[in-house]
Amino acid sequence: MILTVTLNAALDVTYHVDALVPRASHRVGESFSRAGGKGVNVARVLSTLGVPAVVTGLVGGPTGRAIRDDLRVAELTDELVPMAGDSRRTVTVVSREDGDATVFNQCGPHVDTAVWTTFVARFTRLLRGAQVVVLSGSLPPGVPADAYARLTRLADDAGAMTVVDAGGPTLLKALGAHPTVVKPNAAELTEATGHDDAATAARSLRELGAGSVVASRGPDGLLAVTPEGTWRATPPRRLAGNPTGAGDACVAAIAAGLLAAEPWPAVLREAVALSAAAVVCPLAGDIDAGLYHQFRTSVPVERTHAPVDH
Ligand SMILES: Nc1ncnc2c1ncn2[C@@H]1O[C@H](COP(=O)(O)OP(=O)(O)OP(=O)(O)O)[C@@H](O)[C@H]1O
Ligand SMILES: [Mg+2]
Repeated sequence: MILTVTLNAALDVTYHVDALVPRASHRVGESFSRAGGKGVNVARVLSTLGVPAVVTGLVGGPTGRAIRDDLRVAELTDELVPMAGDSRRTVTVVSREDGDATVFNQCGPHVDTAVWTTFVARFTRLLRGAQVVVLSGSLPPGVPADAYARLTRLADDAGAMTVVDAGGPTLLKALGAHPTVVKPNAAELTEATGHDDAATAARSLRELGAGSVVASRGPDGLLAVTPEGTWRATPPRRLAGNPTGAGDACVAAIAAGLLAAEPWPAVLREAVALSAAAVVCPLAGDIDAGLYHQFRTSVPVERTHAPVDH
């Protein structure tokens, strides 16, 4: 089983308007709300692939109840831990005029020490059934900055592999615990290392403790720097759509590949196909099955270097 952790779970609300105009009042056409947060999106994609996934993290208040109701509708296994305070919402306003999306992200309520301790106990229990753990997204206020390092160590002690998808200090602190894979995007790579060149930056994250680094580079695809070698995988074509959630689909493919002990070229081909199939879907966590099946046989994967020393 793959355990996905979403410490900052959200209710993602999407409004469609004709055109977004500052200071104006808007009539909302279609609107959607669904459970979100990166780990929830990853679990949604895994469940579409038929890979067993369990969602854990923190939720609270009426918004937390709406998140849990939606997980039930999606038939995702809910192991979220209750907290005081109301879970956050994200609001995305999509303008029909130009297709642009404007996003408003709440930070989420403060998490107190007792809730964090309860979460760590639940996480430790869930590790008994987990082969792979996905630690995705930002940390809510109150959660220790080294949370992903602690959870990575607990997973490692339990014999589970880890995939960390985070940026900034959250990523840097996790590296000391030697996660199996980290998946930064281009901005996160540069922010964490100070290097603009993806290969140099990825190598430096390995030096800081990551087992493998899968750097996602938007429409340019993936660069993986691993103990087995370095590969580039590229989408057969650039797609128009909503790239939010493409990273989550990519993480889902990496986690599924670790679970199935697939070789890196196969994992990267799947990751590029699955994340492209996410770009063409308006909502994060959805994938276009037709495009996924078309791309998974046509993604070029190129080996670029000999194995990297550990
Ligand atoms: N326009 C696109 N066309 C085809 N594939 C794309 C496009 N944009 C992104 N992808 C695929 O999705 C992967 C992840 O995208 P990206 O690097 O933008 O992740 P991210 O910034 O982490 O996304 P997220 O918003 O989910 O955190 C890329 O490596 C690429 O394979
Ligand atoms: Mg991302």
